[in-house]
Amino acid sequence: MLKKLKIGSLPECFPIIQGGMAIRISTAPLAAAVANEGGIGIIAGTGMSVEELRNEIRKARNLTNGIIGVNVLYAVSQFASLVKAAIAEKIDLVISGAGISRDMYAWGKNAGVAIVSIVSSARLAKISEKFGAAAVVVEGKEAGGHLGTDRPLREILPEVVGSVNIPVIAAGGIIDALDIKEMLALGADGVQMGTRFAASQESNACQEFKDLYVKADIDDVILVKSPVGLLGRAIHSEFTDSIAGDKERKISKCNECLKQCSKKYCIVEALNNALIGEKFDKALIFAGERVDKIKEILPVKKIFNDILNRL
Ligand SMILES: Cc1cc2nc3c(=O)[nH]c(=O)nc-3n(C[C@H](O)[C@H](O)[C@H](O)COP(=O)(O)O)c2cc1C
Repeated sequence: MLKKLKIGSLPECFPIIQGGMAIRISTAPLAAAVANEGGIGIIAGTGMSVEELRNEIRKARNLTNGIIGVNVLYAVSQFASLVKAAIAEKIDLVISGAGISRDMYAWGKNAGVAIVSIVSSARLAKISEKFGAAAVVVEGKEAGGHLGTDRPLREILPEVVGSVNIPVIAAGGIIDALDIKEMLALGADGVQMGTRFAASQESNACQEFKDLYVKADIDDVILVKSPVGLLGRAIHSEFTDSIAGDKERKISKCNECLKQCSKKYCIVEALNNALIGEKFDKALIFAGERVDKIKEILPVKKIFNDILNRL
């Protein structure tokens, strides 16, 4: 029998977290669909205004009674106001990566909200546990989006499992039931999946984005420099060629949305262009290393059923 995932004082659930995907790829419909299947649905708050995030949480609550969380990157200027707004909306959990904020654990503790850190090493996992994390997501180099390591998940996961007493969620390159079985056998308490859910019917990405996922081969996935100061995993395109090496793109309008930004290009604009399908040659398409395993855009229900039938 599959062991359920229990994070802090939240009810037990199916051990799948849908990774938060900015900008606006994972919004209320996707998060709610995952929560309705018994997993944990995550709204990506990065790139949203406080008001928009509040509305998105309320929308999700109207669509599900399941577990809903919010993901906000520590690197964004609005980090504190977004996390505090989600907590005020009585979100079930907050997941954060790209830096660790000591403060957010205190905000979560005061409000009884589970705080989960994304880490890529046993060292950071231990620090998170000490600060009060209810669980850690350990992300390997296979993951889509920003990366904190160049090491494979299968190498880091056992180290993290052996060093903390809170639930450990494996992330990066997990697409199907076989991958999940392997992660659970390595000691994970659950998995976080991004790419598979970005390519779902309920994902907010435009059709061109989803089609690109279905067409992608393993060699199409590359590393790009992000203005955040980290590497990111994305699909090779005209846009990624335009930012390769030391190349930069002109920024027409800057909203100072990041705490620190190299100004190499505007990542908010590039991620927004990916969402809407206009200006696709100016779009950054984040994707995980195993996007080649995605053969179809599926409803979330079917993704869960396929996994359940093979576990
Ligand atoms: C399109 C896309 C956007 C993402 N955006 C975020 C984000 O805003 N914050 C975050 O912590 N992780 C983000 N991620 C990472 C996912 O939450 C997840 O950990 C990762 O996708 C797992 O690897 P996989 O894609 O191979 O399943 C993103 C991933 C993708 C594919």
